[in-house]
Amino acid sequence: MKKATSKYVCTECGGVSPAWLGKCPVCGKFNTLVEEIETPPVLGKQAPTPTTRPKPLKDIEKERIERFSSGIKELDNVLGGGIVPYSIVLIGGDPGIGKSTILTQVSYHVSKTKKVLYVSAEESLSQVKMRCDRLNISSDNFHVLNECMMENIETFIDDYEFIVIDSIQTVYLNALTGSAGSVGQVKECASNLMRIAKSKHKTVFLVGHVTKEGSIAGPKVLEHIMDTVLYFEGEPQENLKILRAVKNRFGSSEEVGVFEMSESGIKGVNDYNGVFLSDSRGVSSGSVATPSISGNRCMPVEIQSLVSKTVFGMPRRMPLGIDYNRMVLIIAVLERKAYLPFYNQDVYLNAMGGIKLSEPAVDLAIALSLASANKNIPIDKTLTAFGEIGLTGEVRGVSQAEKRVNDSIKFGFKKIIVPKRNYDAVKKYEDKIEIIPVSHLYQAIKLVFADKQEEKQD
Ligand SMILES: Nc1ncnc2c1ncn2[C@@H]1O[C@H](COP(=O)(O)OP(=O)(O)OP(=O)(O)O)[C@@H](O)[C@H]1O
Ligand SMILES: [Mg+2]
Repeated sequence: MKKATSKYVCTECGGVSPAWLGKCPVCGKFNTLVEEIETPPVLGKQAPTPTTRPKPLKDIEKERIERFSSGIKELDNVLGGGIVPYSIVLIGGDPGIGKSTILTQVSYHVSKTKKVLYVSAEESLSQVKMRCDRLNISSDNFHVLNECMMENIETFIDDYEFIVIDSIQTVYLNALTGSAGSVGQVKECASNLMRIAKSKHKTVFLVGHVTKEGSIAGPKVLEHIMDTVLYFEGEPQENLKILRAVKNRFGSSEEVGVFEMSESGIKGVNDYNGVFLSDSRGVSSGSVATPSISGNRCMPVEIQSLVSKTVFGMPRRMPLGIDYNRMVLIIAVLERKAYLPFYNQDVYLNAMGGIKLSEPAVDLAIALSLASANKNIPIDKTLTAFGEIGLTGEVRGVSQAEKRVNDSIKFGFKKIIVPKRNYDAVKKYEDKIEIIPVSHLYQAIKLVFADKQEEKQD
């Protein structure tokens, strides 16, 4: 049989080139050519008769999905309530963040009921053994394979129900010309594994490396193939790690899990109170807490900001964990609608604990934090706030206001600033927490900083 050849297809325009080029010869875009296997068509071959037929919706029987636990409650939550059988899940993250550790722990837990194959294409068997010893793991159903070639891995897969590939960038298909980790290899290996998961009824977990820009190395198409894509975030030197679902076919993609790394492995953090808060609240200016919702859970997250006089040229705007454009927009609203000058100030903004805040409900807390830094007046430690800010400075209502207020009470806050729109829904909690409804940003700032003396800027 003639060996399969490769062609290079542009992911933007579909243009084809016989060799890899940095620039697509058809559309002129850079870095868009992806290797694809081209198998020569066999002429005269009869098309096989179809094995499936269209079915009326009412005749389709619903399959009962019995999820199984990964052994780590936080991970189960992020997955939407446990591992879905025959699904394919990708866990991406920076080097050294703990991808292999968490999957080793999960494999061990699953091996109590299912046969597990851990394909370690990156580390030798003795390295895996060392990790297992450190994590105090030993099981007869937990098999480890040190192999990189996809075709070889496939020959062993049949015996196992749960398969971990560590990592997708180090395995390769011998039939393909590109080296392991190349866009074509990653895509084809992942498609292969997806096919195996669905046709042979296997649950597959993949480890994916992250590029410098923070996305999973390989084409975006890799994420399309997966049922679930999770990202492990957090500073390697810090113990706290955050696992975020970015795509989930079987649950919310807003879900986050908080983990702690220790010598004996990764553990889920159940009590968020204090995890994303610092001790300087109420003492230093620029810091305020907000009840932020990710997926099903509400976490009190502290937002800190610092302003300093611009010494040279354009003022700097540096957010961490908050979208740059959102920050610039809120600064503009503060300047125009609350009369706080930022034009000659460098602004640094940070969501504590390395968490990323993307929901608009945190706008009001960002604005209050910036106002506090600008005025150099600390905000009361027992106060929290939520609300979306419009371009006119209005404070707009947000979703799940009740949950935010209820959880703020649990976290020990005494006062909460809420959008006026949400007041009716939350006023039943007034005996437990002081609720301050506001309709405009200016009003919120006046309330928070009323009769407080501006401290001398240092
Ligand atoms: N003896 C140890 N005691 C405590 N923590 C350790 C020990 N050995 C490793 N670790 C932790 O485990 C982390 C590495 O975990 P792991 O190998 O699972 O990461 P990874 O994401 O798979 O990395 P890579 O991308 O290199 O494969 C280290 O950053 C370190 O914090
Ligand atoms: Mg690893």
